[in-house]
Parts: sequence; C-alpha cells; structure tokens
Amino acid sequence: MSNTPKTSAEIRASFIKFFESKEHLFVRSSPVVPQDDPTLMFINAGMNQFKACFLGDNPNNYKRVANSQKCIRVSGKHNDLDEVGRDTYHHTFFEMLGNWSFGDYYKKEAIAWAWELLTEVWKLPKERLFVTVYQDDDEAWQIWKKVSGLPDARIMRFGEKSNFWEMGDTGPCGPCSEIHYDKGDLATQEETFADPVKGVNGTNARYIEIWNNVFMQFERIKSGELLPLKNKNVDTGMGFERVCAILQGKDSNYDTDVFSPIIGKIAEFSGVPYNADQSGMPHRVVADHLRALSFAIADGALPSNDGRGYVLRRILRRASRYARLLNQKEPFICRLVPTLVQTMGEAFPEIRDRADFVAEVIRSEEERFIRTLDAGLERFEKITSELNSKTIPGTQVFLLYDTYGFPPDLTRILAEEKNLQIDEAGFETEMEKQKERARASQKQGLSAIGSEGWTVFAEGSTEFLGYDASTAQVKILRYKEDKGSYSIVLDRTPFYAEMGGQVGEKGTLENSGATFKVFDTLKVNDIWIHRAKLLSGEVSEKNMSLEFTASVNLEERAATRKNHSATHLLQAALRKVVGEHVTQQGSRVAPDNLRFDFTAFSALTPEQIKTIENLVNEKIQMCLPISTEKMSVEKAKESGAMALFGEKYGAEVRVVSMENFSKEFCGGLHAKNTGEIGVLRILSESSVSAGVRRIEAVTAFGALSSFREDAAIVSSLKEQFKTKTEDILERISMLSEQLKASERLATDLRAKIAEGQSADLFKEPKQVKNIPVWVSKVNMESSEFSALLEGAQKTMPSQGVAVIANVSRDTINRVPTGTIAVVVHAELVKKKISAGDIVKKLAELAGGKGGGRPALAQAGTKNPEKIDEALKAAERIIGEHI
Ligand code: ALA
Repeated sequence: MSNTPKTSAEIRASFIKFFESKEHLFVRSSPVVPQDDPTLMFINAGMNQFKACFLGDNPNNYKRVANSQKCIRVSGKHNDLDEVGRDTYHHTFFEMLGNWSFGDYYKKEAIAWAWELLTEVWKLPKERLFVTVYQDDDEAWQIWKKVSGLPDARIMRFGEKSNFWEMGDTGPCGPCSEIHYDKGDLATQEETFADPVKGVNGTNARYIEIWNNVFMQFERIKSGELLPLKNKNVDTGMGFERVCAILQGKDSNYDTDVFSPIIGKIAEFSGVPYNADQSGMPHRVVADHLRALSFAIADGALPSNDGRGYVLRRILRRASRYARLLNQKEPFICRLVPTLVQTMGEAFPEIRDRADFVAEVIRSEEERFIRTLDAGLERFEKITSELNSKTIPGTQVFLLYDTYGFPPDLTRILAEEKNLQIDEAGFETEMEKQKERARASQKQGLSAIGSEGWTVFAEGSTEFLGYDASTAQVKILRYKEDKGSYSIVLDRTPFYAEMGGQVGEKGTLENSGATFKVFDTLKVNDIWIHRAKLLSGEVSEKNMSLEFTASVNLEERAATRKNHSATHLLQAALRKVVGEHVTQQGSRVAPDNLRFDFTAFSALTPEQIKTIENLVNEKIQMCLPISTEKMSVEKAKESGAMALFGEKYGAEVRVVSMENFSKEFCGGLHAKNTGEIGVLRILSESSVSAGVRRIEAVTAFGALSSFREDAAIVSSLKEQFKTKTEDILERISMLSEQLKASERLATDLRAKIAEGQSADLFKEPKQVKNIPVWVSKVNMESSEFSALLEGAQKTMPSQGVAVIANVSRDTINRVPTGTIAVVVHAELVKKKISAGDIVKKLAELAGGKGGGRPALAQAGTKNPEKIDEALKAAERIIGEHI
C-alpha cells in the first residue's frame, strides 16, 4: 500500500480527487445545524443538503456531486450516543465521504467506482471485503458479481433493516448496498462471516461497515406509503474515521491521526494514560464529544434547555462526567479545543475561526454542570443509601437524568461500582412519558416539501424577483390546504422568504376568482412557500390555475429594509468599538424592530453602547450608498466581506457593502443608502446565553414611535406631579423620601397603639391550676395583630398564658380568616410550657394548622366561625398542658 494515502488529510483529498476525476463537482460540507429542514435536529448524512434534489427540485442543477460532510448522530432515527466510547468505531460527530448522482448515473457506475476506489486506488485486499445488497435487488447483485468477481457467498442479501436506507420517518429512501471490511484474522473468516451474530451485520467488531451506496428511488410519506421518485439517484456515505483506521492499519478509530492528538492531550492534561480497552472509555468519550460540541457550536448551535440546545447540553454533560472519571474537577473539555483546531482547522476553517468562542461556551457550560454534578453525586449517594433492593428504580434514574443531567449509562456505571443495577425498563417508561410531553408541546413542523397533499399544476422551483420588484404577475405551481391555511408555491415571487434573520414578507395574492392574504413566506429546501388565508372568492382548480397578482406590503417592506441595513451598521460598529472578535450569532429583522445577537464575553458598558449608537448614527447621517454585488465565495472572502458562521453558501454569493464601513455576505433586502434609516436607537443590551449578548433596537419610524412613547410618559408625569420636565426626577426622589418617612412613622404609631391595646387583654384572668389565663378576641389587620402580640409579650402582668384570637380579612382576596395566638410568659417557658403545643390543639378545634416558638405560637384557620368554640376549650386545653 505504498502509494495509498496515509494521513487523514490525504485520505479525504484522495476520495474527492477520485470523484472529481469522474466528473463530480465538489460541494462544501453544509453546517451541522440544518438550515431549512424542520424534520432534522442535526445534519445526519451527506445527502441532507441535497434532499430537495432527490425529491425533484434541483435549483442548482446538480448532476454529480461529492464531498466530505460533517454529521452528528445523536437524535431521531440515527442515534449512536449511548454506544460512543464503549466501542472504537461509533461517533456522535463524524465525517461522511459521499458521492451523489441526481438522475444521472445509477447502480452500474456507483458500484464500479466504489470497487475501483477501494481496491485499485486504496488497494484494500479483496479477501477482506464483503458486499451486501437488498434481498430483492438482483440487479445490484449481478453488477457486483461482474465488477468484483467476489465469490457468490460474499455478495450477501439482507432485508430492510440493514439494506433499505431512509433519511427519517419521511423523505427520500431506497434499497442500499453496503461494503463491509474484515479487520480480523483471515484464518477464521470462513467459519464466521455468514454467522448472524459473529459475521457480517452481526455484533462482531471485526466486520465493520465502511460504505453505504443507496439507490434512492422512493419517497416515504407520512402514511408510510412509498412513492416512486421522478429520477433514479445515487446517495453514498463512507465512514471517514473508519476508513482512516483501515488505511492507517489501526484497530481503533481513536488510534488514527484524527483522534490521537486529542487522546494524547487528554492523557497529558489528566495524567491518566490511555488504554484501548474498557478503561480508556473516558478518553474516548471526551475526545468524541469534544468534536460534536465544537462543530455544533461553531455552526451556530448553543447549549440550552430545549430542542437542539438540550441535546448539546446532554452531550456536554456526558463528556463532563467522564472527565470527572479522569479526576478533573475543573473545566477540562474546553482546554482541548486548540488541539482539535490543529487537527481539523485546515479542512474545516470554521472551527479555527471560532475557536475562542467555542472554547468559551464549552467552558461556561462545564462550570455550570460541575456545580450540579456534585449535587447529583450527593443525590446518587442518598438514593443508594435508602435502597431496599439491588436495583435503582427507573424513576430515580430518570430524576438523576432529568434534574442533574446524569446520562443513564453514567448512573449505570456508578451503580455497578456499588454492585447495584438500574431498572432500565422503568427508566425507558419515564423517558417515553417525557417524550410524550415533548411531542405534545412541540409545534407541528411544517413539512413543506414532500408530495403529500399538494395539488400540483407544474413542477419547478421559484424565481425570486423581490430585489427589484414588489409586485408581479405569477402562477401557482402547487398548493395545499392545512387547517384553514394554504401553502402556495409560485413560479416567481416578489415575496422575501424568512432567511438570514429577516422575517418573511406579507401581502396579497389576487385574481378574479380568489384573494389571499399572505401572512408569512418561508423557504424550505429552496422552495418558496407562501402561507396564506383565503380572504374572498373560492379555491377551485380553475381559479388557482389562473394568473395571480402578487403584491408585497410596501410599508412593512420599507421598514424592514431600513432595519436590515441598520444591523449591518451595528455589526460594523460593534467590531470597531468592542473588538474584531465580535461576530454575529443570530439576528431578527422585522418591520417594527431589530434584534442582533453577537459573541461577547462580557456585557457592554453604558459608555460602549453610547459610542456604538453614535457611530451608527454618524454613518446614517453620512448617507452612504448601499450596494449589492454577486461574486464567487472566494472573491467575496478576499474582499474582506463578513460571512455568517453556520450559513450554507452556494458558489455565488451576494455581498452588501456600505462604502468601506461595512461589507457582508447577505441575501436580504436593504435601503438604497444609509440615510434612509433616519436614526437608530438602541433599546436594550442583554445576555442571551454564555458568550452571547443581544442588542434590541429600532430605526426610522420605529425609533420615532419609541421616542414618542417616552415623551408621552414624561408628559403624564409632568401633569401628575404638576412640575416642569427638568424637575420630575427631583420631585420623584423627594416624594419617595417622604413616603419612606411616613411609613416609618406609621409603623411606630401602630406599635404604640398595639402596646396600648395589649393592656386591655390582661383584664380578669381565669385561674387554671393557679396560673392566670387570659382569653380574648380582637378584630384587626394582620400587621396590627403582630404588633399587638409583641406588645402582649412585653406587658403580660404576671406569669401566665394568654390566648388571643383575631378575625380579619385576608390581605389579598379579602375572605375572612382567623388566627389564634398563644403567648406564654418567659418564666413558664422555662418550666416547659409550650405555646406551640397549646396552639396545635386549639387549631385542631378551629379546623386550622399552626405552630411556633415556645413563647409565642400562632395558627391560622379559614373557618373563623369555629374560633369561639376553640376559645371556649382554651382553659381545658391549657390545663392539660400545665
Ligand atoms: N445516506 C446514506 C447513509 O447515511 C448513504 O448511510
């Protein structure tokens, strides 16, 4: 294997070069955070970014494509999280090498090229290769036989589970053909390879799947039915890390140059050497999860409490717990980011460009978890110490998982250390319940593509006219109705679809037969969907097939344009004032206001906010022309234009410039010159999550309205306080001083009155076993009553017990409530007579509950009518306690 590629970089390059030689176009990996597919949490296969091409909409007219795609499999149909670290070849994050044909070549070429690459270019020994095909796919079987000449028994047939690949519950799918590699001892191959357990597709790590060739020819729809696709396509995926292990002669993916620098650092930092056996699991988990976390964060995801962010949080916690097993009590994973950048920054520059941010987000999450980790471990000790059996109940495992972020496999490991086990089934039941809850609360994702439910007039995608036009004559390509709303796809449209933070446009669609109000526009896999309600007319095939006039709401468009341009000025100003490390993390540009999220390690100071606001307004007043230009990604980057992290860009991008102050990749709508923005007013600056801050601002008429609102408040204050604007603040602070003084006075007076009243309590005592007992009933506010009781303690004339009831109205909803208080003289307290005991008994009679200190205790009741009865029993009850 002397000329075969060796390093991971060479292997990646050699795959791409091979397919380029077969006329494939290289398309960059898309970000791991899906851009426009609500059915996906993370990109889980190379084909995701081409989903629309399979389903028949191929806006870029791709025929043959190849790349190495970043994938994360931690949720949904393809989920490997629990396996990771246990074995040496499953990962949460991995690269998938792939080649695709969209209605171009099919099985014959795909199979021949796969074989050529593996055996001729990479020179893998044929005797180690096995092939599987879908049980009915004789065509693929015959092609394999002819191309490879492998013995019949080594071109194996399998059923749906292994050889029918589906992207998710719905979407493109088809029979597939996998290539497996035997890493084991050839002497025992014959006796094992066909064994269902020990052989290919069994559980034996020696036979490992390296490449899957899917022959995409169906679409699975929600009902479960399969519809044929317009074209026959090829979708392949090769496990990059597995292939590196094979070509580098390593048993484990973690021993390849993809992982070994990271594993080495983990061993060095922790002082715990790495072993390929079970004891090396913590190193493997940390190394694997570091990659998933870093790429997800670099591509725009952030740990949080729901959805994708929650999955990230779980991954981080699993990693952090394993770091603890390496004796790490301080943030650890974040320290490995520079090593990851060294190994992967060349192939995926986004990780290098955002290294500091990624490390900071991980560090702060780790700190947070380390705090709950100790609490969780304590909780675990408590649970196990109170256990009556050898099994930790599922509810407790779930509690540790849900409240303390303990992944179940960690609880299992902790349990095993104590010779205990966990109730797996019980835990699953709890998880199911939680999923059910999540499903119930999840908004129904809009499945905009896919064939279900559409009335189709014509195939094709949408041409966007909105940069130049706000109205156009258009025709419907397809439409469907769902709960009274329509999704309408047009052949051309002036409506801007939600993208790059700018919200989707509103407006109308109108012809002689029907008028729709468009309330939102979105783009899903390059198809423009107009979400609309029927205002008048009728939805009939005839009406829908006629031409429509599409008109965008002009007022809102004008306001949105200004806000969008303002976010560019804002980003440029932030970078000037705060530093070049500031980058956009997200934004929302709407007609009314704008929101701009950016990376920053601390809050902006009021001084910085003012400087930024000044700078933006200065640029507004300079009326800088705003120009847009289309160019290649390379040229755009060279020109210094800012790209968005986590954004998928085609070969050509649109660059928006405001002279030399701001230059950004952007497909949005903008003002013609900065002067149109009028003015920018920053309303707030706040924290979104670790390392991310948010500015909310308004421009033009939005700013004018916000100034007016403030002015209205000022004028109403002037009126209320009967003063001039410049005196309002002084007047308010004076009044609040006065108020405080009055409150102090009122408190003092109340106390004096209560003390005076308390004297009335101690008239005509009853004698119980020679101790004076006073029983009385009052009617006052509860604050007064408290003062009265305090007074009673001070003024009790001799060593006795006082029972004082109060009937008043609840301060919040004014229903009558009753309180019974017992005051015991300090000398009697010493003799172990307790107000708390007495009040408890009295409360029982009055249908209430209470308690307190030995000298003073109170009980409340919602049945004040029972108080008299309790008071009558007071002497008897006190007698029983003396
Ligand atoms: N899309 C196929 C897979 O992920 C190639 O296995």
